[in-house]
Amino acid sequence: MTDDMEDSKKYQGLGFGLGLRKEHYQDVIDSFETEDSQQTEHSINVDWFEVLTENYLVPGGKPLYYLEKIAEQYPMVMHGVSMNIGNTEPLDKNYLEQVKLLKNRINAHWLSDHLCWTGTNGSNAHDLLPLPYTEESVKNVADRISQVQDFLGCRMLIENVSSYVSYKQSDMSEWEFLNEVAERADCLLLLDINNIYVSSVNHEFDPLDYLLQVPKQRVQQFHLAGHSDYGDYVIDTHDMPVCDAVWSLYAKAVERFGDVTFMIERDDNIPPLNELLLELDLARDVSENVLKGGYYSSLVQNLQMKQESKPLQQQKIPA
Ligand SMILES: [Fe+2]
Repeated sequence: MTDDMEDSKKYQGLGFGLGLRKEHYQDVIDSFETEDSQQTEHSINVDWFEVLTENYLVPGGKPLYYLEKIAEQYPMVMHGVSMNIGNTEPLDKNYLEQVKLLKNRINAHWLSDHLCWTGTNGSNAHDLLPLPYTEESVKNVADRISQVQDFLGCRMLIENVSSYVSYKQSDMSEWEFLNEVAERADCLLLLDINNIYVSSVNHEFDPLDYLLQVPKQRVQQFHLAGHSDYGDYVIDTHDMPVCDAVWSLYAKAVERFGDVTFMIERDDNIPPLNELLLELDLARDVSENVLKGGYYSSLVQNLQMKQESKPLQQQKIPA
């Protein structure tokens, strides 16, 4: 099958987006709504937003009020942390029903969750725990993703997680595991470039080996994020800007995968929206330059210098 035929499995790309966070609700609403009327042009340069599924599953309340208002103006995708797709217990149909309702409510373009397990016997670890990379595990996860896709009636995205431990039982690499799961479940991939970097430091592999062996035709979306570097190990904290090494890896990812829907995750130490918009502009510049055939090694540094000298051109910075 050609790449073009395989690409027909993907959803249409959405461009450059951000995670929607409550600290920015009002700024985002102000981007399309003035005191007197709705603006036809948005005053911030964001193509779409990703929302954390679990924050909006309860009907009613302020979060859903803001979300529905914003979803009328911007394309949305959903990103979950509770599917527990690596577990071996029956899927939580009640949760999946709520996910399906929210997807319809905000007309989400797609939804994603993580290649991990998050608890067992009713307990919740509140963490995205890695799986053993074995044939048995591939079969279990792929079967469960297929069940979810059948239930939801759409193809979902699975994201690679960052990890700090591995299993003695694993007999394949993480990327071989990811590829096998995606192939058997016929799902799409959300490739988190920062997670690849974090795990490459913690488990001492070359992140380019990972990038080069992920199937191009299944990569629907990228995540980038900041992490905390402790020298011997790295923790995936999402509380600071994306670092140079991850930008460089992103440039390589654009070389390999092309113009993939892009998003920056910031979950802690949330800065003013304008700071994230500048990071998003940097991503646009990196992508554009790489796609034009620019040499990537000095590219990120040069673009960052350009960003630093750029005046803030978006709307007011929130107090
Ligand atoms: Fe991510």
